[in-house]
Amino acid sequence: MKLKPVNIFLFMCLAFIVFSSTIYIKPYILNKYKKNPQLIESSEGRLVWQKYNCQSCHQLYGLGGYLGPDLTNVYSAPGKGELFINAMLKTGTPKMPVYHLSEIEQTRLIAFLKTADASGSADPRNFTTLYNGMILAK
Ligand code: HEC
Repeated sequence: MKLKPVNIFLFMCLAFIVFSSTIYIKPYILNKYKKNPQLIESSEGRLVWQKYNCQSCHQLYGLGGYLGPDLTNVYSAPGKGELFINAMLKTGTPKMPVYHLSEIEQTRLIAFLKTADASGSADPRNFTTLYNGMILAK
């Protein structure tokens, strides 16, 4: 049987629709967002992070500005964590501005940093470099 170009085109369109709808519908089918309040809070926290442009001075996984330290693992760093971040945001330092965040913004921001921390380690000393240059973070 000879494949007609129009059939190939229609097949590709169908594949595109099925693939796209699967990707966008899947989280709702799995009910991922409803089940996990931490995830909702941290995605709101990401918006706070973007609103105040923390990335202009800080990095996540080494990407961002270099005035302040990398914050990927600040949540679990020894001697730091939630109380430390709270204090840092409230008082600032001569190099780090005070943002006068509301309580809710601050809670969300910390939830975001907690999720970032849970996603892996940003310390390059723990990275394993693969033969193709990709990096496996622990
Ligand atoms: C103008 C640049 C700048 C911006 C913008 C900024 N910071 Fe900072 N931040 C710093 C600097 C610099 C330090 C290091 C403190 C010091 O040495 O005085 C710091 C330190 C911190 C620390 C402590 C990190 C550690 O490991 O000691 C946290 C947490 C932090 N910032 C969170 C934030 C958050 C959240 C935002 C966004 C609301 C933000 N920062 C925006 C400059 C900035």
